[in-house]
Amino acid sequence: MGMKITPSILNADFADLRGEIAKIPSADMVHIDVMDNHFVPNLTIGLPVVEAIRTVTTQELDIHLMIADPDRWAPAYADAGAESVTFHVEAAGAPVRLARELRALGSRAAMALKPATAIEAWVDLIPEVDMVLLMTVEPGFGGQKFLDMVLPKLRRTRELVKATGQEIWIQIDGGVSVDTIGRCAEAGADVFVAGSAVYRADDPDAMVRELRELAAQHAQPSVE
Ligand code: DX5
Ligand code: ZN
Repeated sequence: MGMKITPSILNADFADLRGEIAKIPSADMVHIDVMDNHFVPNLTIGLPVVEAIRTVTTQELDIHLMIADPDRWAPAYADAGAESVTFHVEAAGAPVRLARELRALGSRAAMALKPATAIEAWVDLIPEVDMVLLMTVEPGFGGQKFLDMVLPKLRRTRELVKATGQEIWIQIDGGVSVDTIGRCAEAGADVFVAGSAVYRADDPDAMVRELRELAAQHAQPSVE
């Protein structure tokens, strides 16, 4: 598979999300950060806004739920037509049931880990999901500095994914830019969230293509 870029609209103009999404036609997905001021110290957008976005774009929607009790709320995002729904393992009460429910609703299911959460505790959940998201900043805000300390976990996660024999994507989220994306691709990531790097660029769509090209140049042979 190829490298995928999924720009986060967290740092886009919330008064014109339709226009902001239209700026990134080359994106593989649109990453939407849902925060509830409980799981993370920030409040962003929720289901009604995602439903509204669904009506104005055919781009794949990549929902990142940074919320408490995703067991209760996540299925509604799949119902709303999101192609991918990510819940945090630190917040889910019954992650196996939730992953299966999301898939049954026709969405890809993904599990997310904060920077200090070890993948080893969640190995048995890997075959139940379509994507593993490793946060490379503490979740809550865009524009933070990339945490290199996550790279060893990324390498271990790629090995664990390989061992399943399944095609499971590994997504990196936080501080991804032209300066950091190569390291992530080398360590085994194949899906890259980029918020400020894309939306602060003069030409956001050109930045999407540049990031994808850089990732491809650094990709592990078995992943590319
Ligand atoms: C942070 C969010 C990220 C964020 C990324 O909690 O999950 O998706 O928007 O923004 P950058 O790319 O600026 O770090
Ligand atoms: Zn995110």
